Amino acid sequence: MNRYKIAAIHGDGVGHEIVPVGLEVLRMAAGRFGFELDVTHFPWGAGYYMENGDFLAADGLEQLKQFDAIYFGAVGLPDVDDTLPAMKFTFKVRTAFQQYVNYRPVRLLDGLESPLRYKAQADIDFVVIRENNEGEFVQNGKILYADQPYGLATDTSVFTRQGIERIAHYSFQLARRRRHKVTNVTKSNTLIHSLAYWDRVIGEVAAQYPDVTYQKMYVDAASANFVLKPEIFDVVLTTNMIGDILSDLGGALMGSLGLGSSGNINPEKNFPSMFEPIHGSAPDIAGKGIANPIGQIWSGALMLEHLGEKAAADAILSAINAVTAQGLRTADLKGSATTQEIGQAVVAQLTTYEVHRSNGYVPA
Ligand code: NAI
Ligand code: MG
Repeated sequence: MNRYKIAAIHGDGVGHEIVPVGLEVLRMAAGRFGFELDVTHFPWGAGYYMENGDFLAADGLEQLKQFDAIYFGAVGLPDVDDTLPAMKFTFKVRTAFQQYVNYRPVRLLDGLESPLRYKAQADIDFVVIRENNEGEFVQNGKILYADQPYGLATDTSVFTRQGIERIAHYSFQLARRRRHKVTNVTKSNTLIHSLAYWDRVIGEVAAQYPDVTYQKMYVDAASANFVLKPEIFDVVLTTNMIGDILSDLGGALMGSLGLGSSGNINPEKNFPSMFEPIHGSAPDIAGKGIANPIGQIWSGALMLEHLGEKAAADAILSAINAVTAQGLRTADLKGSATTQEIGQAVVAQLTTYEVHRSNGYVPA
């Protein structure tokens, strides 16, 4: 029996509510599909920082390295300097473990209406591939003379040929398994060095995939197209910051940020990959038991797919769809179900599906 070592990190805020629910779903999927998850919990995050002076243990990265995957909620608390969580936790893990792909699916779930009144399920089905290790978020900068009239601040983006090539190859290979289309969302008309180079290297890679349609689109136009013509997108390849922003817009197209899932992936599997919802710790609703756990649960499905348990991953996704189709919704989708109730409903769906080993997973 396959056995996977999972590091579970709730983080802060709603992470404490949605990670346990996600783990229950994962345990049920493991039981049904005949593999084992060996889960170890780590108390890391902004709360841990308030007590211990750092977001994770001094040898935290060394500890995490031993795992097959990391299942993460979100970090950040209103009482903690919000320049710290990314630097001291999320980017640190993403960079140390070369998780250079941030995979963020945007897909309208069964029974849900998009805020885009005229768009149906077939119109909203794409993936945002956000470059996850460099770009605008390398935190390469300084604040000088902050209190002076001549105060100044910089953040210098970094783009390397190697970094651009690997994310481009990943995107084109992904497109081959989907609808054969890559849209490079860029802003090279104004970032005339960094993103012009980004475009050039992506163009070189695109030439190696003649079977994939390649298009370049500026981010301002792309934002409008997300809303007006989401059906034109298949694989959206973009930079760290643009991908961060557009994937929240993608969450909104699905109906709620709480539905957005992601994988921070090291495709070579030299290091563990990390799976988390796209949203943050949502302090405004934390502790109330009303957070939507679907983004977290879906992230668990992405984790299983990465580990090679595709049938179980598909089963979780169809269980989520069955629950949304039933009309069960949390408050962000104008429903009254609790986090727990959604989790229990997804688990119940998994129990009523029958496993056909040769065919993957089909309804009983
Ligand atoms: P947020 O994503 O936490 O919340 C934005 C809005 O979406 C809030 O109104 C929230 O209630 C709602 N929302 C988010 N997740 C939801 C869910 N599962 N169900 C229902 N509603 C949900 O973003 P915000 O408020 O900008 O940031 C809060 C904290 O999270 C900050 O400290 C920020 O730095 C941190 N953060 C951490 C991330 C991570 O750990 N990867 C990512 C984004 C933000
Ligand atoms: Mg974000």
